[in-house]
Amino acid sequence: MGKVGKFFKAIGLIISNPYLLNNVLEDSEVNKEIIINEHNLGNGLPVVDLLHMFPSFEDSINPFTFLDGTSQVIDLAVLKSIAAKIENCDYLEIGSWRGESVVNVADTGANCVVVNLPKADMIAMGLNKDYIENHHFFSKNNPKIKIVDADSTKLDFSSLNQKFDLIFVDGSHHYEDVKSDSINAFELLKDENSIIIWHDYLNNSASVRWEVFRGIIEGTPEPKRNKLTHISNTLFAMYNNHKYPSHEMNFFAEPNKSFEVNIKATAITE
Ligand SMILES: C[S@@+](CC[C@H](N)C(=O)[O-])C[C@H]1O[C@@H](n2cnc3c(N)ncnc32)[C@H](O)[C@@H]1O
Repeated sequence: MGKVGKFFKAIGLIISNPYLLNNVLEDSEVNKEIIINEHNLGNGLPVVDLLHMFPSFEDSINPFTFLDGTSQVIDLAVLKSIAAKIENCDYLEIGSWRGESVVNVADTGANCVVVNLPKADMIAMGLNKDYIENHHFFSKNNPKIKIVDADSTKLDFSSLNQKFDLIFVDGSHHYEDVKSDSINAFELLKDENSIIIWHDYLNNSASVRWEVFRGIIEGTPEPKRNKLTHISNTLFAMYNNHKYPSHEMNFFAEPNKSFEVNIKATAITE
């Protein structure tokens, strides 16, 4: 079939199955084109070197499962270090799953609020029963953590009656949802020192997750977009007011630091 034939076939399929439009809108290449053509950010965000943020970076994390769906070790260590630098940190996390990220942040003394989909919504979405049950595994009995069962794209965040020093956006990774979470996050910042961190701005250390990136960009008020950066060695995008030195992204640059990694496993018993 020629290109024109394929075009009309695709249009016909979308008209008879409108949900297919979501596949197009979520497509990485489509979002990459939009980032390049509408936002002129095809090279990604400027990169802030971790050692410019933390010249003697050292932290450890616990708990960590090395199971699917949580953040990388380095991501949680950096998140924890950011929280630790903020006195009486009020922390909001959108998307928590087993609670590995929030428990590590709570360990710094931060007051934490987590917004995560209610069980009933996850059941209605047909998600795996064990996946649903494992939500809040580590965080459910932690006195520093308040759990709000809500869909972040529907929640009226003003009902929390709170502003935050640090917000971690790691819920749904669909473009529209990241955009909605980002718009809400900017409304919830406590002051000019407050920080937003988004997980999964990158897929891995060498490729941008374009649909998430587009949600971040379009959910950030235009005058603030020049304060978005990527933290080196992590999957994070960051909004903050502090002007760290930055450089252009180069996925294949020579390493400029080495990490020491110690690992210890402890069985979890009931
Ligand atoms: C990637 S996991 C979070 C991982 C966690 N932050 C960590 O680093 O260990 C994403 C979580 O977002 C939740 N989620 C997805 N869509 C959501 C929504 N619209 N509102 C609230 N939570 C959502 C899922 O239930 C899941 O627990």
